Amino acid sequence: MQISKASKAVGGLVEDVDVKDLSDSQFDEIRQAFFDYGALFFRDQDLTPEDHIAFAKRWGEIDVNRFFSPVPDYPEIAEVLKEADQELNIGGSWHTDHSYDEAPAMGSILYALDIPPSGGDTLFAGMATAYEALPQEMKGRIANLKARHGNDHAFGETSEYRKAMGGRLINPEAAGQQAVHPIVLTHPDSGKKGIYVNPGFTLQIEGMDKAESDALLAELYAHVQQPQFHYRHVWEEGMLAMWDNRATWHNALNDYQGHRRYLHRITMEGVPLSQTH
Ligand code: SIN
Repeated sequence: MQISKASKAVGGLVEDVDVKDLSDSQFDEIRQAFFDYGALFFRDQDLTPEDHIAFAKRWGEIDVNRFFSPVPDYPEIAEVLKEADQELNIGGSWHTDHSYDEAPAMGSILYALDIPPSGGDTLFAGMATAYEALPQEMKGRIANLKARHGNDHAFGETSEYRKAMGGRLINPEAAGQQAVHPIVLTHPDSGKKGIYVNPGFTLQIEGMDKAESDALLAELYAHVQQPQFHYRHVWEEGMLAMWDNRATWHNALNDYQGHRRYLHRITMEGVPLSQTH
């Protein structure tokens, strides 16, 4: 097994390994690399849903996503699907999964089953690298701030996005959670500081009026959206990608109209983040 950096900012490539058949020492190395790099990519995996679940369980409990349609007979696995005749994709803008939860999912493990002939790449942003590159003055401004995250606008009854997804998002009545997290997160496993607000689910900075909060969030988002903090993952069938939601953003590019894209996603349980600053 070899593990190498995928880009300067984020991600690691894990080669010559079958995730179904990892020794304890290989798993420990992969775990360390996951926290060092924020995301890992494995090619040529041949996984049944049971294998995918077994790999996820080596990391801890599964955090079942309540809004994505599950794979039939496998409630632990969410479908990330866009049919050839659908226009909107899942996760097609910068976000981090589950930041609206008190204990956001530690990470997500996505397995590619059907990939368009071109397009459908996923961008990842490294939040520790982006934090490190912030001007000192901005680091001071955000050091003790917290932000509120929520999901009603995406998954709730009145969400236009949910309605436009044509049945791929379920349980609108389960939406409405909000959680407050520090903007500068000290990662619970790596100890690295990173930016923990995201355009998908962050609603407002606590103690600021909406206009002031929007302006500061826009500055942070513009900073993270600079390409030097990104890695562009090009999918092949049989690829497995896993990312740490506390250390990355991701954005699934929707540039493959007329083609099907189908992946299975498992989210892994995380810890409460309210104390981690
Ligand atoms: C997601 O946001 O979890 C989907 C990512 C992808 O489809 O590449």
